[in-house]
Parts: sequence; structure tokens; C-alpha cells
Amino acid sequence: MRAMEILTERLCLKEYDKSCINDYYKLKSCPSVWTYSTFVPVQSIWEAEHLLNGQIVSREQNKGGFMPLYKRDNDQYIGEAGIISINRNANRCEIGYNLLPEFWNQGFATEIAAKLVIHAINDLKFERVEALVLSDNKASCRVMEKCGFKCEGILRHFNRHHDNYRNVNYYGIISSDIKSI
Ligand SMILES: CC(C)(COP(=O)(O)OP(=O)(O)OC[C@H]1O[C@@H](n2cnc3c(N)ncnc32)[C@H](O)[C@@H]1OP(=O)(O)O)[C@@H](O)C(=O)NCCC(=O)NCCS
Repeated sequence: MRAMEILTERLCLKEYDKSCINDYYKLKSCPSVWTYSTFVPVQSIWEAEHLLNGQIVSREQNKGGFMPLYKRDNDQYIGEAGIISINRNANRCEIGYNLLPEFWNQGFATEIAAKLVIHAINDLKFERVEALVLSDNKASCRVMEKCGFKCEGILRHFNRHHDNYRNVNYYGIISSDIKSI
């Protein structure tokens, strides 16, 4: 796999490597980032290292995965985003994004998600991009809407969190949607 960078006006998406471990640990151990997720925050840097290695291998095998996201003006790490799964038979992919709390509500997730959609459809020639978002995750649902995704259905009790089942919004955008924006 060729190392790649994806640029937006304010952001740069790069490839994770082993030197990213401190940033990666900060994100993966932050409880508030994972409130609306099945991911359990890591408890140790060793756990984070193990996850990071898996992430690097997944990208090397072209299976998709998260990539580290930086501000272009000062190279500050703000979180991660990426095409996280790929189904070439159906020609669709799934995107995701997770930001450190100090960078929320500045339009960063919308900026990178919109760019990932354009990249997936125009450059990688996917027909469809999708994302699964817990219905209670209002900020992420808003990101989807701002990027032009349609909520195509509610997956009832799709997510299990301790003894609670939570609904998930299934979002999709197809190539003709972006041509008409
Ligand atoms: C969800 C997340 C990625 C959003 O990132 P962000 O950079 O803050 O998103 P943006 O600034 O581009 O847009 C957020 C929008 O949600 C709105 N919003 C934020 N909190 C909200 C809330 N509690 N209820 C309703 N809307 C809310 C903001 O006002 C903004 O909309 P606006 O531009 O119309 O005002 C970020 O909060 C995050 O990383 N959360 C933890 C991880 C996560 O949930 N990842 C997504 C999993 S699907």
C-alpha cells in the first residue's frame, strides 16, 4: 500500500505508524470519545500499542482503517478518520471519525467526512458510502446531514451497551447524490 495523505482546507489525514503511539493512546483512552460506541477505552499504553499495530496492518493490507488527523496550521493531532471498511463486491465502503473533545464543534468532522465521501466516490470509484451512528449521537447525526447523507433506516436495538440496547441510524450517500449537490 502506498502511504497517502488527504488534504482539506484546514486538515491533513495521514497514515498511522508506530511513532503515533502517544497521540493514539490519548484518543483511545479518553472515555468521553467513546460514549457512543461499543469500543471500551484502553487502560494501558501496551493495549494501545497492540491496537495501533493492528490498525497499521489493516491499512497495509488495503482493508481500510482509521488514519491520524492533524491540523495543517500547526501539525496538531486532533483525532482520526478514514474509510474503515470496504466491500468491493458491492462497491461500497464505510467511513468513520473520532475526535479529541477539545476539537469538537469547530466543523472538523464535517470537513473530513465530506472530503472522504468525495475521495471514495470520485477517486476510488465506490458507488456508495455509508456510516452507522448511534441515534443518540446527535453531533455525529448532524455531521452526516451536513455532508448530504440520507438516514435510510433505524436499526433497532442494533447496539448493546451493558444491559441497554441502543438504536443505530444507518446513513448512506450514493454517487448520484454528490453529482446533484
Ligand atoms: C461526533 C463528532 C465526530 C463530531 O465532530 P465535530 O468536529 O464536533 O463535528 P462538527 O463541528 O463538524 O459538527 C457538529 C454539529 O453537531 C452539532 N451538535 C453538537 N452537539 C450536539 C448535540 N448534543 N445535539 C445536537 N447537535 C449537536 C453542532 O452544533 C454542529 O452542528 P452545526 O454546524 O449545525 O451547528 C465528535 O463529537 C466526536 O469525535 N465525538 C466522539 C466520537 C464519536 O462520536 N464519533 C462518531 C461515531 S459515529
